[in-house]
Formats: sequence, structure tokens, C-alpha cells
Amino acid sequence: MLSKTLLSVGALLAQAQAETVLGVTVFSRHGDRTSKHYKGYTLTNLGVQQNFRVGSDYRDTYISSDSSKQILGISEDKVVNSQIFATAPDQTVLLNTASAFLQGLYPPLGDINPQISTQTLNNGTNYTNPLNGYQYVVLHGEDDESPDTIWLKGDEECPAVTKSMKAFKQSTEFKERDAATKTFYEGFWDIMQSVYDYKQENLTYANAYDIFDLINVANIHNETSAGNVTEEELFQLRTLADSNEFGLAYNRTDPARSIGAQTLAGAVVNQLNETVSGKGKLKFSFMAGSYDTFLAFFGLTNLTSVSPDFFGLPDYASTMSFEVFTTENVTAFPSNTDDLRVRFLFRNGSDAGEPMRAYPLFGKSEDSLSWSDFLSSMEGVAIRTPQQWCSTCQSDLLFCQAYSAESNGAQTSNEKKSSAGMSNAVAGVIGAMVTLGVVAIAGAAAFLIMRRRRASPAVAPVTSTTEGKGSHRSDSESA
Ligand SMILES: *[C@@H]1O[C@H](CO)[C@@H](O)[C@H](O)[C@H]1NC(C)=O
Ligand SMILES: *[C@@H]1O[C@H](CO)[C@@H](O)[C@H](O)[C@H]1NC(C)=O
Ligand SMILES: *[C@@H]1O[C@H](CO)[C@@H](O)[C@H](O)[C@H]1NC(C)=O
Ligand SMILES: *[C@@H]1O[C@H](CO)[C@@H](O)[C@H](O)[C@H]1NC(C)=O
Ligand SMILES: *[C@@H]1O[C@H](CO)[C@@H](O)[C@H](O)[C@H]1NC(C)=O
Ligand SMILES: *[C@@H]1O[C@H](CO)[C@@H](O)[C@H](O)[C@H]1NC(C)=O
Ligand SMILES: *[C@@H]1O[C@H](CO)[C@@H](O)[C@H](O)[C@H]1NC(C)=O
Ligand SMILES: *[C@@H]1O[C@H](CO)[C@@H](O)[C@H](O)[C@H]1NC(C)=O
Ligand SMILES: *[C@@H]1O[C@H](CO)[C@@H](O)[C@H](O)[C@H]1NC(C)=O
Ligand SMILES: *[C@@H]1O[C@H](CO)[C@@H](O)[C@H](O)[C@H]1NC(C)=O
Repeated sequence: MLSKTLLSVGALLAQAQAETVLGVTVFSRHGDRTSKHYKGYTLTNLGVQQNFRVGSDYRDTYISSDSSKQILGISEDKVVNSQIFATAPDQTVLLNTASAFLQGLYPPLGDINPQISTQTLNNGTNYTNPLNGYQYVVLHGEDDESPDTIWLKGDEECPAVTKSMKAFKQSTEFKERDAATKTFYEGFWDIMQSVYDYKQENLTYANAYDIFDLINVANIHNETSAGNVTEEELFQLRTLADSNEFGLAYNRTDPARSIGAQTLAGAVVNQLNETVSGKGKLKFSFMAGSYDTFLAFFGLTNLTSVSPDFFGLPDYASTMSFEVFTTENVTAFPSNTDDLRVRFLFRNGSDAGEPMRAYPLFGKSEDSLSWSDFLSSMEGVAIRTPQQWCSTCQSDLLFCQAYSAESNGAQTSNEKKSSAGMSNAVAGVIGAMVTLGVVAIAGAAAFLIMRRRRASPAVAPVTSTTEGKGSHRSDSESA
């Protein structure tokens, strides 16, 4: 019996070694930051180190030639920007999260391969990039007025989500927890009264995340917090925040709650499909986003039934990744998609040695799915187009208005030829906007005045970028 088990473990290992990773898509939370309660919050030095370390670990796993999981054909030392797609909402904390991760993924060439870090001019003078050969990985910031904003932050500016979240606060589950924790929360008044806008009445389960965040951040950073809370109290505060945030992020019988994860699922399909349809030209995609999207995704893909740990907030700098691989040891991208599989992995936080662990998605028994199974399961839950998002959300954002105008026949078409580097969907919106012309201007003005600040945008299919739109509304994120 034992030897049989050992044998099959051995067989599994041999199989694992022979496989070839062809592409990876990663979604990451930010590292340690100042409290979200105060505007203008930022990553701390510790937080930047965390995201950097995670980036370095992904380098060791997927880029280094020493790794059995090195992505087929990926440039090991010098970044090749066509192999990488990186995106984050246009928000300070998440853009910096991406930058720090990418610095770890492709460190300065002077540190890792000085021979190729210099370029020699005709006159014999050598040049390296600043900062010992710093590598400039292209990062796409997603403007919150672009349709591509939905891929990373599909839960924001979405009335259907807001409505669904309100239903959570009306649920018996919520009310019971609120009542049961009243005394517990009241006990934190002496330390919470220094928060300028907190009154005693604000110390309730309804503010579970905010209270946890303020106290947790103070516990890490503020010397006057010494002895203010015990480990046990902090644990209570965290698990209560877990339950509240999970309740806000996912409800099995109310799909609207998890729209942010449905668009993320769409983004993951977009990125992996780009890798597959491009025969591995795109090799590594990186997206930064928020814990609430993680939680919603955990619910949506049934990870919570694999382990109850998925009901908990992911630690700072947590990552989930999706590997496209083939079980064979290959030297060229397989020509048949039947040879491809997808594996989901989650790494909780950034601690050294914390593993990227594989988990089965959608209640399946295997921890990887065939490419076609993966696509059909993901497509079963994913939002695939901005237009679909607009109607699911019942949103009247400007780009959504353009879609309804389009379906009302206002668009005379043929504007759809996509200019280089723009998805058809986006080109379609712009076409519609152009057609709407003067009529739209009045609408747009009203829209700009009325819209509430939205925190962020998102992942585009690799081909579409919103570079240079230049509205930097940083710091309203929910990260
Ligand atoms: C995969 O094949 C290459 C040669 O094509 C060989 O060098 C390498 O050792 C093989 N790896 C494994 C894990 O079998
Ligand atoms: C070589 O050319 C570069 C660019 O024209 C110039 O900046 C540099 O001073 C030159 N070096 C020498 C030694 O002439
Ligand atoms: C420039 O770099 C090359 C190799 O990269 C080296 O052979 C050469 O000596 C260097 N030139 C100077 C002026 O340092
Ligand atoms: C989940 O949704 C159902 C129906 O949409 C609702 O009855 C229930 O209260 C919700 N539960 C929570 C915890 O929001
Ligand atoms: C505290 O409660 C008051 C009244 O209920 C509310 O107006 C205020 O926004 C709350 N403040 C916080 C920080 O939640
Ligand atoms: C530490 O906490 C005190 C009291 O809450 C506050 O006044 C102070 O600004 C905090 N210091 C830092 C560095 O956050
Ligand atoms: C710690 O508690 C004391 C009062 O008990 C309070 O004055 C101080 O602001 C608290 N520190 C923090 C960082 O919350
Ligand atoms: C994958 O990409 C190809 C090429 O862009 C496209 O034709 C196909 O519809 C995509 N499939 C999915 C599932 O998105
Ligand atoms: C990640 O870690 C946090 C706290 O350490 C925990 O509450 C949560 O359940 C963990 N998540 C998973 C999936 O392990
Ligand atoms: C989730 O997984 C559990 C156990 O693996 C299974 O019983 C259940 O049907 C799955 N639910 C969904 C929606 O996939």
C-alpha cells in the first residue's frame, strides 16, 4: 500500500517535471499601506518590499532558467515588452503595486546580467540605463472613464452591485452579527475616538472592515498603539471583517453581488486566450486589484467549498495565478489546443517560503482543467464585453450610454474598423460617441458633473490600451 502510494507520488512528480508552462496570468493585491480611511493613502516601504518580493518569487518560478516552471521562450534577463502585459487601475496604491512587482520580475540588468546591460555607441562610449540598468516594463494604467475600467474594478460605478450590497445589510445574517458584536465593538471606543470622524455610534459591525483596517494599520505602524489591542482582539476584528466583506462580495443566489469577479473572470480569459491564440507570443500578464475582487472570485469559482480559508481576506500582496501548460516537455507551442491545460494557484501574502498552492476551480476534483473545460466553465460565469457589463449593471456611465445609443440605431456603423491596438469593443464605443456628436456633448457635461468618483479601471485585452487619457484620480480606490 505504502509503496504503491510512493510510486504514484513519484509518477506525479515525474509528470509535473515533464510539463511545460506556456503562459501565466497573475492578479495581485497591494502590499502593506496606510489606512484606507484617510484620503491619499499610500503603500508603505514595507508594502513596496512585499510586492517586490512577490515579483522576485514569480521571477524565480516562471522566468528563471533554473526553474522547472520557466515559461517556454520567455526572456530570462532582459525584458521583452511584447511578452509581458501589465495593468492596474489608475490609482496610486495599485499602480505602485504593479511597479514594485515588475521591478522584482525584471530587476536592473546590472544586477543580473551586466554583460548585456550596456550599449556601445559608434564612438566607443558605453551606456547602461539609469539605476544600474533599470528595466522599464510597460504598465497600462486603466482610466476610470474607459470601458476597460470594468475588467479590474467591475464592482464600481455599478448600480446593480450597490443595490445587491444593500440587500446584504438588510439580511438576517447581517443583523444577527450586528447585534451579537455590539458590545465587542463598543469596547474599542477609547482607542477609536482619536479617529477624527468616528463617533461612538460608528463602532458597529457595519464598519467592520474600516475598524479592522484602522486598528491593524496602527498596530503595525504606530508606536502609541502598543498594548492597545491584544492578538485575540485583532483576530476577532479581522474575522468579523472577513465575514462582512465576504457577505458584500458574494451571494450564491444573487449573481449581481459578484459582478467584479465576473469581469475579472472575463479579463483572465482575455489574457490567457491572447496567449493561446497568439501561440505564446504573450507570456506573462499582470493585473493589480482589490481584496473584494479576490473574495468575490473565490465565491464565484467555488473555492470556498475547497477550503473555508477562502472566506478570509487575502493577506497583503496576495496573488492568484493561472498557468496555461501542457503535460509534455515541449520546445514549441503545441499546435492543438487539446494539449493545453489551466491550473489555478493562490499565494496568501508575501512571506518568504509561502507557497503558490494549486486549488481546483468550480468544484472539480482535479487541480487543473483542460483548456476547453476551463473556457466553458469561466465563460459560464464571466462578463466578456463592456456592453454586457453595462446592461448587467444597469449603468448609465458615458460609455454605456454610447452602447444604448448604438442599439437604438444612432450609430451608422462602419466606424468599427479598429485602429491599431484597440479592441473592437472600444473602437465600437468610440465610433458610437463620434456618431452621437453634438447630442453627446450635453450629456457628457451632465455626466461629468454628476458622476461620483470612481476608483479605477482595468484590464484590457492586450490589444487595447487607454494610455495617455491622463485623468489621474488617484486614491479613491477600494483596495
Ligand atoms: C525537456 O527536454 C529538454 C530537451 O529538449 C531536456 O534538456 C530537458 O532535460 C527535458 N526536461 C525534462 C524535465 O524532462
Ligand atoms: C559619444 O557620443 C555620445 C552621443 O553623441 C556623446 O554624448 C559622447 O560624449 C561621445 N563620447 C565621446 C568620448 O566622444
Ligand atoms: C564597452 O563595453 C564593452 C563590452 O560590453 C567593452 O568591451 C568595452 O571595453 C567597453 N568600453 C569602455 C570604454 O568601457
Ligand atoms: C442572498 O440573496 C438572497 C436572495 O437574493 C437573499 O434572500 C439573502 O438574504 C442573501 N443573503 C445575504 C447574506 O445577503
Ligand atoms: C458615523 O455615523 C454618522 C451618523 O450615523 C455618519 O453620518 C458618519 O458618516 C459615520 N462616520 C463613519 C466614519 O462611519
Ligand atoms: C498614531 O496615533 C495617534 C493617535 O491615534 C495619532 O494622533 C498619530 O497621528 C498616529 N501617528 C502615526 C505616525 O500614524
Ligand atoms: C491607544 O490607546 C490610547 C488610549 O487608550 C489612545 O490615546 C491612543 O490614541 C491609541 N493609539 C492608537 C494608535 O490608536
Ligand atoms: C480567443 O481569441 C481569438 C483571437 O482573437 C478569438 O477569435 C476567440 O474568439 C477568442 N476566444 C475566446 C474564448 O475569447
Ligand atoms: C489567508 O490568510 C488570512 C490571514 O492570515 C486567512 O484569514 C485566510 O483565510 C487565508 N486565505 C487562504 C485562502 O488561505
Ligand atoms: C461546489 O463544490 C461542492 C463540493 O465540491 C459541490 O458540492 C457544489 O455542487 C459546487 N457548487 C458549484 C456551484 O459548483
